[in-house]
Amino acid sequence: MQSADKKLILDSQAIHNRVREIGEEISKDYQGKEILVIGVLKGAFIFMADLIRTLSVPVTVDFIQVSSYGNSAASSGKITLLANPSLNLQDRHILLVEDIIDTGRTMRWMADHFSTLGAASVHLCCLIDKAERREEEVTIDYLGFAIPQGFLVGYGLDYNEAYRNLPHIYHLNL
Ligand code: IMP
Ligand code: MG
Repeated sequence: MQSADKKLILDSQAIHNRVREIGEEISKDYQGKEILVIGVLKGAFIFMADLIRTLSVPVTVDFIQVSSYGNSAASSGKITLLANPSLNLQDRHILLVEDIIDTGRTMRWMADHFSTLGAASVHLCCLIDKAERREEEVTIDYLGFAIPQGFLVGYGLDYNEAYRNLPHIYHLNL
């Protein structure tokens, strides 16, 4: 069901322009290195697919899947690891790609998780920073957009698994 009230926040052109800018910045910062891009499933899959095609440095990809929301619009606070990356992370330059940071609990968990795995470096690239409900401090190395509040869908972001396929990002009136 995709008929609930929603308001356009970012159109696909604005998203793509920003993704290209971030990609150029990342390519500059990682010159001479190979990046292991790890996407946080499922929300980051479209952003990640667009981002890696703007990178001019060598890239390998992997994924991690965690769940924090269950089927609601509010974080449950409990992070469950559903799938680990399959590649060896030892001595790799890892770029975590996330769709949106809300309370920050997921990224706090990620930082702790990856700090034990022997990576050479771990940086975070996030499409949307929604700082209003932040509880855990998170350092975002590459940020697409700061959107203060609201529940967002589209471009990978879901509500109860719906809306991920929309090319634009909308604010959903819940
Ligand atoms: P956090 O742990 O509260 O920072 O939540 C992060 C995760 O919750 C993100 O990776 C998203 O998957 C999901 N999330 C948070 N806010 C939104 C939203 O506005 N729309 C869709 N998913 C969201
Ligand atoms: Mg996510």
